[in-house]
Amino acid sequence: MIIAVNFSEQSMSLNTIEENQRNSPINDGEEVWLFGYGSLIYLVDFPYLESKPASIKNWSRRFWQGSHDHRGTEEKPGRVVTLIEQLGEVCHGVAYKVESSVFKQLDVREKNGYLRLNIDMSFADGSADQGLVYIATSDNEAYLGEASEYEIAKQICNAEGPSGPNDEYLIELARSLRAMAVEDPHVYEIERHIASIKAL
Ligand code: SIN
Repeated sequence: MIIAVNFSEQSMSLNTIEENQRNSPINDGEEVWLFGYGSLIYLVDFPYLESKPASIKNWSRRFWQGSHDHRGTEEKPGRVVTLIEQLGEVCHGVAYKVESSVFKQLDVREKNGYLRLNIDMSFADGSADQGLVYIATSDNEAYLGEASEYEIAKQICNAEGPSGPNDEYLIELARSLRAMAVEDPHVYEIERHIASIKAL
């Protein structure tokens, strides 16, 4: 079952920096767990104190968010991952313990529709803690929504932005998930379609 999550009645602007800093302030000096499930798994350009594999319950990773600023452009948006609430599912990723000041940089990186949400995460060693995750809900302007894995692959193959080609995002994510022995049929199926499209 898929449940839509709405943070506000109004649609969000394409720049969520202010909204995150206004609605989700973090105390100075606090150390916070951040759950990463997309590029935050493989592109770690921020300082952290500790990192370990983690998972969150009742969420699925999906390439349903548009990227106009990193892996696409206004004219040709790419596709990147967001989380869809789905009872019974588990999304595996990486948790980083970061100092509060790091969110200034992360809010800029994730500004294209992502809001910080409090989340319970479980660690591979059996322990659990609360932390934050960036999620792009269906009411943000950059949201593209559901499409078949083949359609998503076609769009990814045609998109490129300031951070590089969109297929690099998917390929790096798939490689990292595989290295962590994570099963993610959605990601691997898009990867397979991309390989076939590129072989044509
Ligand atoms: C994340 O990786 O946790 C958020 C989505 C992204 O930056 O790709």
